[in-house]
Amino acid sequence: MFRPATQRLSVATASRRMVKTLRHFCKKAPRKLRVSEALSGADLEAKVQVQGWVRSVRSQKANLFLDVNDGSCLQSLQIVASPQLNDPLLTFGSAVEVQGVLKQSLHAKQPVELAAEHIRVVGECNPLDFPFKIKERHKLEYIRQFPHLRCRTNTFSSLLRIRSEATSAVHSYFKENGFLQIHTPIITSNDCEGAGELFQIEPSSQQNSEDENYFSIPAYLTVSAQLHLEIMAGSFSRVYTFAPAFRAENSQSRRHLAEFFMVEVELAFTRSVEDLTEVMEDMFKRTTERVLDRCAEDVDLFHKHVRPGHRDTVEATLKERFLVMTYSEAINILKRSSQTFTFPANWGCDLKTEHENYLVKHCGTRPVFVVDYPYQLKPFYTRDNRDPPEHTAAAVDLLVPGVGEVYGGSLREERLDLLRARLEKIGLEDNYNWYLDLRRFGSVPHGGFGMGFERYLQCILGVDNIKDVIPFPRFSHSCLL
Ligand code: 4AD
Ligand code: MG
Repeated sequence: MFRPATQRLSVATASRRMVKTLRHFCKKAPRKLRVSEALSGADLEAKVQVQGWVRSVRSQKANLFLDVNDGSCLQSLQIVASPQLNDPLLTFGSAVEVQGVLKQSLHAKQPVELAAEHIRVVGECNPLDFPFKIKERHKLEYIRQFPHLRCRTNTFSSLLRIRSEATSAVHSYFKENGFLQIHTPIITSNDCEGAGELFQIEPSSQQNSEDENYFSIPAYLTVSAQLHLEIMAGSFSRVYTFAPAFRAENSQSRRHLAEFFMVEVELAFTRSVEDLTEVMEDMFKRTTERVLDRCAEDVDLFHKHVRPGHRDTVEATLKERFLVMTYSEAINILKRSSQTFTFPANWGCDLKTEHENYLVKHCGTRPVFVVDYPYQLKPFYTRDNRDPPEHTAAAVDLLVPGVGEVYGGSLREERLDLLRARLEKIGLEDNYNWYLDLRRFGSVPHGGFGMGFERYLQCILGVDNIKDVIPFPRFSHSCLL
């Protein structure tokens, strides 16, 4: 069919028309508000649209009441509508768009409600099949079985908002304190320290000849960004990264994941373990204060319903200085204890979870730094304290209530001769020639640490199982979705 040629418009005419059209739509369509914005009370008497999922439906003679939540905050917005707007598809879990006028409500708890003029069901939900039930507070173990749906529950959506705020708080802390963020690689050819079992990377379809690696050398998912950060600390002095780390731990424990997030820091010109513990403690406290302040309602949910009374523990943690003890003191405390441990505590042994928990309790359920571990226990890069007869290395862990180790760090061996001798002893001198270069060219005393982000969240929220503080947990025999 013949169509007339499209009319040519000058740019100015076209943009005038566009503005006119936009104005027309802006006038017609009510402003879209998030539930948190609607609840702020800033738009009373305004005609608005709110979109979200129905958390409850109450049909009364005179009115229909809905609670609608869109994930922007813990509270839902109460919708009041005439019974004519009721629809059998308006069920718990369904997705809706509601237009109406924001009104002052008589409820002290929720001062704003939406007087609905129009309700549209966008997505149906059969409540009989939906795994979560209206008004029921499901256990974390239960909702964990539904990784694709658990973000629709109050508890898990609170958790994810807190997690997001804690992420911002960590970045702000470093920005405010002169640290440079480095994007360290996920794929690496070094195994950092033998910190954990590695996941090796290979293409799923072998494109290259059978015996050739894709990268020509074996490559792994990183267990820690530390060595890459050490490179950068040699130029920028203070660096950090906040990235996933991977460990093929054959563990189903409540504090181990195969994929977790780690905040790692490296500081040049750092002469003592105290230089590190100061940053560790300050970062822990400032980050936590900001989370408690900005996510008060969400955090309250955990402190009231998940671990009642946990708020007191967290507040005490923020008020007091963290304690410090040496590894040798820790072993003496464990040896003197009347508790029988599954693994007896002797000088030279690694501290197990049961030991960590005991030490935290012994210190009055307060965070405690354990410093100066046996040299033989620690990876090759840890600075030798050269303190015969014990022989320790300048390493530090922070143990916290309920979780145990949340940070691990150390001073790094900056002395070329000592580092080379240790690498030679374990046969890794050739692999780490580049690492020795860092000591050859402008070496400085330096150190750093890593904080397990999920363990940190467990600690401040009182969550028992690490699988409940990460959106999609990965652990041995489980990689859902
Ligand atoms: O103590 P780690 O192994 O220390 C390091 O990797 C150092 N290279 C970090 C550094 O100095 N830059 O791990 C640091 C922290 C632990 O204290 C723990 O909180 C967490 O990472 N972590 C885990 N979190 C969850 N699942 C696992 N499998 C974890 N392994 C360690
Ligand atoms: Mg450790």
